[in-house]
Order: sequence, then C-alpha cells, then structure tokens
Amino acid sequence: MPVTTRIEEVRNQVEALAQAAPTAKDLMEGVCKLLHERMLKYNWVGFYMLEPGAQPPALVLGAFMGAMTPHTRIPLNQGICGAAASSGKMIVVDDVSKDTRYLACSLETKSEIVVPVFVAKQVTGELDIDSHFSAAFGAEDQELVQYCAEVVGKKLEKSQ
Ligand code: SME
Repeated sequence: MPVTTRIEEVRNQVEALAQAAPTAKDLMEGVCKLLHERMLKYNWVGFYMLEPGAQPPALVLGAFMGAMTPHTRIPLNQGICGAAASSGKMIVVDDVSKDTRYLACSLETKSEIVVPVFVAKQVTGELDIDSHFSAAFGAEDQELVQYCAEVVGKKLEKSQ
C-alpha cells in the first residue's frame, strides 16, 4: 500500500477512535496500538505525561506499545522528550546518534519524533515515537503524529 494511502487510512481510524473511546486513557492506548501496528517504521510509540504537581517538573511514561524503556520518568531538562515538553514544539530527529540531548531507549533506534499534547493551550504531555530507520518521520508522518496529539489533547480537555 502506498504510504500516503496508509497515512490517510490511519488518520481516519484515529478519528473514529477519538469518537468511540470512552476516556482519554482509552484513546491514548488505542492510538499507540494503531500507530505501532499500522505504521511499519513506528517501532516504539508512547505517551509521556507531565507529573501533576512534581517540582521540578517531570514527564512520566503513560500508554505505550513496544519494548519496555528504562526512561519511565524524564525531567524536563533531559532528553528530546524534555526539550519538546519545555519548548512546546514538535522535535524531529533524523539521526539520534548526532543529537546530544538523546536518551537511548533501544540500541536499534535511529530516528525519533516528539509532539507535545496541549490542554487549554498548556503542555500536558507528549506523543513520542522511535524508529529503527533513519529519517523515518517526513512531512506526512509529522502531520499524522500532530493530528494524534491534537485529538488526545481535545479528549483530555473534554474530560477535565
Ligand atoms: N529518546 C527519548 C527518551 C524516551 S525513549 O525514546 C522511549 C529522549 O531522548 O527523550
């Protein structure tokens, strides 16, 4: 299947999931499962959420699909995950070996994307995806991952 068709199909499935999922937790679990199963280069897919009230602030691992990671709690001044959450900006790393911020989760990881999740314009967490392939996250992937982060943010907002 051409990658564009697959991305469109997965986007539609995410939209359907967002409507059907009873809670934000269900939606996050569903998004991880869907992206991990359907997007062949997405080898680890997970959400990190800001720990409520933590000082200094930190991200904690939430729903994920893929191998267990040693990084279950990441302070905001560490890793690509910390950088994305503290800047509120998407970060795409085509070659993790060249990024000094990178915290290794698996020796096989070559590229990574992290997209913040916003609730009422505040960063509340992020969607992190690792790939065993270099530069796996092109423009269409970035749009898909951004869309997933947005629907999760909206669902979290509704459940507040
Ligand atoms: N690579 C991330 C850490 C999380 S693992 O990829 C699951 C980082 O540099 O923040």
